[in-house]
Amino acid sequence: MKSLVIYFSRIDENYFGGAMRYITKGNTEVVAEEIRDITGADLFKVERKIDYAKDYRTCIEEAKIEQRNGELPELKNYLDDISNYDVIFIGGPIYWGTLPQPMFTLLSRLNFDGKVIMPFSTHEGSGLASIVRDIKKYAPNATIKSGLAIVGSNVYQSKDKVEKWIKENL
Ligand SMILES: Cc1cc2nc3c(=O)[nH]c(=O)nc-3n(C[C@H](O)[C@H](O)[C@H](O)COP(=O)(O)O)c2cc1C
Repeated sequence: MKSLVIYFSRIDENYFGGAMRYITKGNTEVVAEEIRDITGADLFKVERKIDYAKDYRTCIEEAKIEQRNGELPELKNYLDDISNYDVIFIGGPIYWGTLPQPMFTLLSRLNFDGKVIMPFSTHEGSGLASIVRDIKKYAPNATIKSGLAIVGSNVYQSKDKVEKWIKENL
């Protein structure tokens, strides 16, 4: 089975259980790389053409407005064909209760018919929030497996959880 991980992840300033910190690798990217190490999946990182602000508060506002307006922002690179893949891991940070809008820019361009989708999130309390329901809108004819939610500040201790989730669902 050939697998692909489609994910969004942001560097720069982020919030970790009460403190702000600048990071050079995003939380979701850590989980995406663990999935790659476990399954041999290819990685596709969704990047907004114009990055969100580096400072956390401004980013929060940008993401809120973008989501409220239902914007599908342009991306740096696109992926057009996923026909070679059987399993697609779809993940990102929870932004205001769902995936960041750039993820939906990409999902809206792809055909997931017949694919197996493994949804995952990193978050600071919302779990999977509504990502499974929202992914379903773009993948009505896919099999969506039960999702995995990892607290962002715990990503470096998450490998066992990721491994177990994959073992139980694939
Ligand atoms: C714009 C924005 C909105 C967020 N909204 C939520 C939220 O609704 N619920 C939640 O639990 N965490 C929220 N977070 C926290 C992130 O989901 C969490 O820090 C995540 O691990 C970041 O992943 P990343 O480093 O891969 O970008 C938000 C963070 C940002 C920057």
